[in-house]
Amino acid sequence: MFISDHCSLEARVVDITTLAFDAIVNAANTSLLGGGGVDGAIHRAAGRGLLHECETLGGCATGDAKITAGYQLPAKHVIHAVGPVWHGGAHGEAAQLASCYRRALELADAAACKSIAFPAISCGVYRFPAEDAVGIAVGTVIETLPRVPSIERVLFACFDDAMFARYEAELTARRQAPPSNPA
Ligand code: AR6
Repeated sequence: MFISDHCSLEARVVDITTLAFDAIVNAANTSLLGGGGVDGAIHRAAGRGLLHECETLGGCATGDAKITAGYQLPAKHVIHAVGPVWHGGAHGEAAQLASCYRRALELADAAACKSIAFPAISCGVYRFPAEDAVGIAVGTVIETLPRVPSIERVLFACFDDAMFARYEAELTARRQAPPSNPA
């Protein structure tokens, strides 16, 4: 676990749909109308109400996010973030992925959420290399935390042991060499 000023960060192997958090993040697509992977799992667990609310949102741009209720999920809110499709890394993919994490935290803070869980956005169907995505995820969350004071707990929900090992290594490295704090 990594503790920043007012927030704990941890990684765990867990199905994100089972978490009774204030917000869970969905790795959605620009239509916001569901799909496979974690998106499909979240829609299946939340029930039709989630799709009906998503139909009112008018989609979402890559790098942005939108918030809905959690319906039949144990989570209060779902934050639907649209990660980039990996096209080799020279098409702004890293900036778009960072933007997903920032926007999700901003929306969670605006909804007074204390706890938020992220999947490894773009690391499945969208093929973003996990070794790069994990550093972007953890780094962006740590950079953004000072601007989102309601957030007290961030969980990186990993679907398998290999992804968990990457997050653990990243969190451990940052704990050993925390970013310098300008006075
Ligand atoms: N809990 C936690 N993590 C999960 C779960 C789960 N229940 N299910 C999958 N993962 P992906 P993307 C992990 O493909 O790459 C959809 O069709 C998975 O192992 O879900 O952003 C959307 O509609 C991987 O590490 O999302 C979009 O069209 C990570 O979640 C597209 O896929 C993300 O994999 C988005 O692709």
